[in-house]
Amino acid sequence: MAVLVTGGAGYIGSHIVLSLLEKGEDVVIIDNLSRGHKKAVKGGILYVGDLADKTFIRKVFAENDIESVIHLAAYSQVEESSEQPIKYYINNVKTTINLLEAMKDYGVKSLVFSSTAAVYGQTNEVPIRETAVTNPVNPYGESKLVVERMLKWASVSNDINYISLRYFNAAGAHDSGEIGEDHEVESHLIPIILMAAMGQREKVVIYGEDYDTEDGTCIRDYVHVMDLSKAHILALNRLRNTGKSGIYNLGSGKGYSVKQIVKTVERVTGINVPVESGGRRAGDAAVLIASSEKAKKELNWQPEHESIERIIRDAWRWHSNNAKGYNDKYIYLI
Ligand code: UFG
Repeated sequence: MAVLVTGGAGYIGSHIVLSLLEKGEDVVIIDNLSRGHKKAVKGGILYVGDLADKTFIRKVFAENDIESVIHLAAYSQVEESSEQPIKYYINNVKTTINLLEAMKDYGVKSLVFSSTAAVYGQTNEVPIRETAVTNPVNPYGESKLVVERMLKWASVSNDINYISLRYFNAAGAHDSGEIGEDHEVESHLIPIILMAAMGQREKVVIYGEDYDTEDGTCIRDYVHVMDLSKAHILALNRLRNTGKSGIYNLGSGKGYSVKQIVKTVERVTGINVPVESGGRRAGDAAVLIASSEKAKKELNWQPEHESIERIIRDAWRWHSNNAKGYNDKYIYLI
């Protein structure tokens, strides 16, 4: 009996795969390696292929005794999604339909879905609960919300049981230092600041200093990737034990401004980071902080790496020891 992890070679997926392996689970991974890294997969059976290919999906289900699915495979660049919305609908929605079809045909009912705080869009609710209005402001968030709606109806008709996990700002790296964040096009704040600290970027551009926050910069809720992994395993076990579907926010419940993150990186690394003021980035909300009370209560989720220093320290360990990330992209070009 195996757990299928789609997108298991990606940043969050690779951490989940490792956590599952540590729990003694059999793991099968699907990843097309377009954004993931073979070197990030530390065990299990990796199938390199695309969820757009229905024959390929069926082959994976036919060859393995899959009992449940954790579905992360998706594009997740907000800016790119605004430029190429259809690509996001195809890669995030259509592929999920293919996966659900295969699950139905092979009688697999449990699905943990990787969702995002981007489903909320601009909201004034602080902290944000799962009951907040969902009004995405970019196609990435919209594509995840479309899938959530589809999952709701699939669960009502009793085709599947699902838990959707809405991550806030994933950050940090594995305790072992073996795996971490490596995006070919990096847009996330913490890796960008760390790259500037390492001299790989000239500076950090702060996107807007005129927000209605204490220091004028945007506030976000950073959650450690190890704590995210843990939540997926708890969600999976809840589905196994109760079959109850649901939607859960995952965040630390604490907000840090862009400037506070820069200062924390400087403190943790001992390096001054050059910063520059830039204009606002389209689609950025001023404050996004999660209420994760529901996950704590129903999934019994207790984040263990909550301090922002810890998150940045772990990310720094990974980045400073792996200046070129996995340095494996050339493998696929041969
Ligand atoms: N920021 C900068 N400079 C940079 C990069 C980011 O000032 O070079 C700022 C952003 O404007 C934002 C904050 O840092 O205020 C965090 O930005 P990230 O890009 O790291 O993260 P986002 O909050 O934009 O996005 C995250 C996830 C998305 C998800 C979104 C949900 O990465 O996948 O939360 O709101 F969609």
